[in-house]
Amino acid sequence: MSANQKIREIANIQGLGHIEFCVRDLERARDFYVDLIGLHETERDADRVYLRCTESREHHAFVLRKADAAGVGHISFKVSSPDDLERMQKRFEALQLPTRWVEGEELGQGRALRVRDPLGFTIEYYAEMEPVEWLVQKYDQHRGVAPTRIDHVNMLTPDAQYGYQWYTDELGFGCAELTESDPPDHRIWASWLFRKATVHDAAVMTGKGPSVHHVGFSLPDPISIIKACDIIASAGYTDSLERGPARHGISNALFLYVRDPDGNRFELYTGDYLTGDTSIEPIRWNLNNPIRQTLWGSPPPRRWFEESMAMATLDGNGVEPVSEPQMQAIPDYVLD
Ligand SMILES: [Fe+2]
Repeated sequence: MSANQKIREIANIQGLGHIEFCVRDLERARDFYVDLIGLHETERDADRVYLRCTESREHHAFVLRKADAAGVGHISFKVSSPDDLERMQKRFEALQLPTRWVEGEELGQGRALRVRDPLGFTIEYYAEMEPVEWLVQKYDQHRGVAPTRIDHVNMLTPDAQYGYQWYTDELGFGCAELTESDPPDHRIWASWLFRKATVHDAAVMTGKGPSVHHVGFSLPDPISIIKACDIIASAGYTDSLERGPARHGISNALFLYVRDPDGNRFELYTGDYLTGDTSIEPIRWNLNNPIRQTLWGSPPPRRWFEESMAMATLDGNGVEPVSEPQMQAIPDYVLD
């Protein structure tokens, strides 16, 4: 390979693998995600609880890590082979992006490569993870709303046009939908980007960043969204029901946004559509079209736009400083 070859030419990213949330009280977070929401605990060590969904074939899809402050530790994508990781490391080096190898730090996971990407996010790539029992047909073990898989991560960055270019041109993601500013600029405000054949593995939106807006888990059906509201409210977390239930314009999914006991945000999501054909043009939306965000249901509250999760630094010991967005971050219809 030459250093001029892009990641999309030298590696095969399979999709979003897992995400690590930093939490102040590990037991409280574990109880929330396992006992209420219905994720499955695979294993734990002194600082971390490793969780998975019913469709997971691997050790973890979600990690809770004990920390002094809430936020996101790393975002992890799976690649096809360990050789991909070696080639990616050389490419990142050529792009002068700092990397570090992770080995033995995370239970169940093989040697992994972490990079501080050009947007300032701590992104991990891994190829190997321990297989686990498949729980799809273990209905007797399903609890809460039985999330089926980790679906996507949504990231905020000051320049979402550049974020789109990085993910599509360098990493080889397809784009299902995008939001852009008025003509004549047509500047990209957000994009929904996939490697697996759904609407997205990653969304990149305009906002103060680098920071993480939310992680999305798929639910089996629409009634599970309502059940989630009932369960979360009954357990005393009514204020955690931040937005929804409602239906998105973009992605067409039925959704509910929830803040966990640490204030970290996740989305429960069901009913988007298949993608995979990268020759098909993205569906384009105007930034100030309210339908793109909410086909029906209340508009987002201001805190949904204004609050997001801090991104841990590559060494895990601090948080990335954030910069102000380079274009309007909150659409006109939310301003009054
Ligand atoms: Fe990881």
